[in-house]
Amino acid sequence: MKIAIITSGGDSPGMNPLIRYLTRALIENGYEVMGYRSGYKGIAYREKYHLTYDNVAGLLKMGGTILGTSRFPEFKDNPAVREHVKNILREDKVDVLVVIGGDGSLRGAYDLTRLGVKCIVLPASIDNDIYGTDETLGMHTALSTIQDAVDKIKDTASSHDRAFIIEVMGHRSGFLAVSAAIATGAEGVFIPEVETDVDELATRLRKRYEEGRRNSIIIVAEGKASAREVAELLKSKNIGYDIRISVLGHIQRGGIPVFHDRLLAFRLAMGTLKALSQKTFNVLVGIKKDDIAFTPLEKAVKNKKTLSQFLINSVYTFKWED
Ligand code: F6P
Repeated sequence: MKIAIITSGGDSPGMNPLIRYLTRALIENGYEVMGYRSGYKGIAYREKYHLTYDNVAGLLKMGGTILGTSRFPEFKDNPAVREHVKNILREDKVDVLVVIGGDGSLRGAYDLTRLGVKCIVLPASIDNDIYGTDETLGMHTALSTIQDAVDKIKDTASSHDRAFIIEVMGHRSGFLAVSAAIATGAEGVFIPEVETDVDELATRLRKRYEEGRRNSIIIVAEGKASAREVAELLKSKNIGYDIRISVLGHIQRGGIPVFHDRLLAFRLAMGTLKALSQKTFNVLVGIKKDDIAFTPLEKAVKNKKTLSQFLINSVYTFKWED
């Protein structure tokens, strides 16, 4: 059986370890393996990538993806491009396409299955916004990067008696923002899923300022607002502190994959082997309640992942003092 691997959409730290675990596991179990560069686009342009036991060495500690990745709107928008991709896979005698990527990549794979291509999707995104899995590959490293950045910002915030509004990624999900707020003891958080009581927050920040607390940190999910918008809002409420903003941006997607992302990569590779050996195709391989779980692609596409109640409740507890 010939398996082709692509990484697609926004990259995430853990993709390289996954390519390494998966390539070796497939070879050791008698499968033929190949890759295409740059996601669906690389299939369309037939940019093959030779994957061998040896050339995936050293990937466990590497961020990014050696296969490269891209956003390829033509694939989403144009049925003829999808048909072309299907034909290339057929000509290259690919039996199963393994797609490592996020939400858009999952939709792309589902569209291909409707043309008769067998696909397995492995959820990789820093956003943790994919239905059918508790964790997505890269979220642990991204959170560790955000935590490190916020800790550093706190140092300078304290020196200057400032409030910092820090914008994090997450697409339409507040997962990264609320998790980071917990990890850094932020005073407030703005996420798409829950309304923040701005007056209550402003009163609390003002009180902190008057008590001489030397910094205050507010985390904003990009899917809710920009750091600039929140800063303007709080400036109009007279919180006392001098306010600065920081947009963390793409550093959140880079870096050496942390242990939990490497472990997750390993489990997703093992889940893929399990699916292949059972001839379970057209599924998303995820982790649910600490176990490998298969979700039909149609179900994964048609459902929206919601933020856990625990995280939602946490939003209301950002009244602790650090
Ligand atoms: O989906 C991952 C993600 O990093 C989102 O958090 C963010 O909104 C988006 O990708 C940024 O995409 P790009 O790298 O194409 O600007």
